Amino acid sequence: MIPPDPRFGLDFNTGLLPYGDKWRLHRKMFNVAFSKQTSKKYQVVQMEKVHQFLVNLLSTPHDYPKHVATLSAAIIMAITYGYDVASKDDPFVTNVAHLVELITNILTAERAMLLNAIPLLAYIPSWLPGGRIKKRAAESRALARTVLDDPVKYVQDRTVAGTPTTSIVGDLFEMEIGKEFASSKDELIKGVAATVFLGGAETTSSALLIFLLAMVLNPEVQTEAQEEIDRVVGDARLPEFGDRENLPYVEAVLIETLRWHPINPLLPLPHMTTTADVFNGMHIPKGVIVMTNFWAITRNEKRYPNPTAFNPRRHLTASGTLAEGTNYPLFGYGRRICPGRHIGDQSFWVAAVSILATLRIGKARNEAGHEVDFTPEFIMAGLASHPKHFPCSIEPRSPRAAELIYASVGGN
Ligand code: HEM
Repeated sequence: MIPPDPRFGLDFNTGLLPYGDKWRLHRKMFNVAFSKQTSKKYQVVQMEKVHQFLVNLLSTPHDYPKHVATLSAAIIMAITYGYDVASKDDPFVTNVAHLVELITNILTAERAMLLNAIPLLAYIPSWLPGGRIKKRAAESRALARTVLDDPVKYVQDRTVAGTPTTSIVGDLFEMEIGKEFASSKDELIKGVAATVFLGGAETTSSALLIFLLAMVLNPEVQTEAQEEIDRVVGDARLPEFGDRENLPYVEAVLIETLRWHPINPLLPLPHMTTTADVFNGMHIPKGVIVMTNFWAITRNEKRYPNPTAFNPRRHLTASGTLAEGTNYPLFGYGRRICPGRHIGDQSFWVAAVSILATLRIGKARNEAGHEVDFTPEFIMAGLASHPKHFPCSIEPRSPRAAELIYASVGGN
């Protein structure tokens, strides 16, 4: 990975750390907190937040982007700090959102390359136009400090008050840290925790917005997924994690969603080669930047015939079970593979299956009752790509579905 310019105060972020001892320790903490097994213990909280999300969608459906953002933030904040996010305007959440924005603006691959490859820029006085970078760096450093310190202080204050939270930060404080890093343990934990938010919130909400768009544009797929859920789950309860293996069509819809429009069309985290290599007869020198082109991978006609079509069946066998090897490395690969993949996958599944089970997502209608057509547009916001606001209608599938939603949060 390309090390970030130290002036920005972003060297706490696992995704931006170069390969080395500090990165290894970060990954060790991630592996403890987010292994496949440990991730299962967060299913309860994920389910709880999704049920609240369904209520929010029912109350103000046109605010769906806000509800999606709140859900993603609420899951991550609950798991990481044991903190309850009421809305996306929560101060902890807005600070992180602002930091993500700064990181994206400053550390686009191009600027990262410039800042790291041309050290001369580090000496530009602040009154020159290039000095804007220095101003932004100071802003980023201050904000990063707030994002690192404030939520961890919340966890510590709760512990002192005798009402400790159940959270990853709490667990990590209990963990033995490598001797050479013991003195900077607090700082390391703050870094890992803030990375969880930076890496986890936006990716999850982008995945869900792409899913909603795919459902608006492909009503026949939505109906087929709902029929599968009705057969397996019935209408006496909402879906549970235990249903997952019996819902292969839903699984195929989710795989197809992120193939149809990958969250990271061109991976925003640029890698740098540590040694020279030869690949397919091409010489790749040491120290060059390498980006994964997920867009090209997911548009490969040989692997995915008619790649722009949304077709979950391409991930199923003739008998309707999940086919092998149709997925692409959506979570990356090798030693930098996404350490939050199990938790991200769980959040995406439970939110999508719960929406399918209870709500009908369709095109919005105008006053004359005609469907509103639109051309989807995507933007790279933060670290992930997602659709720009699109008109849609979100309604309960039946009075029974609405009852189940309200009952899931203790209402009637
Ligand atoms: C649908 C959800 C998600 C997707 C599609 C996704 C995808 C990715 C991808 C493609 C990478 C880059 C791998 C590379 O550089 O080769 C990555 C890195 C990373 N992700 Fe995720 N991610 C998701 C959710 C999460 C969550 C929930 C967390 C936190 C709990 C997380 C934490 C990270 C971190 C820390 C890295 C940097 C790893 C490193 O450089 O060592 N991600 N993710």
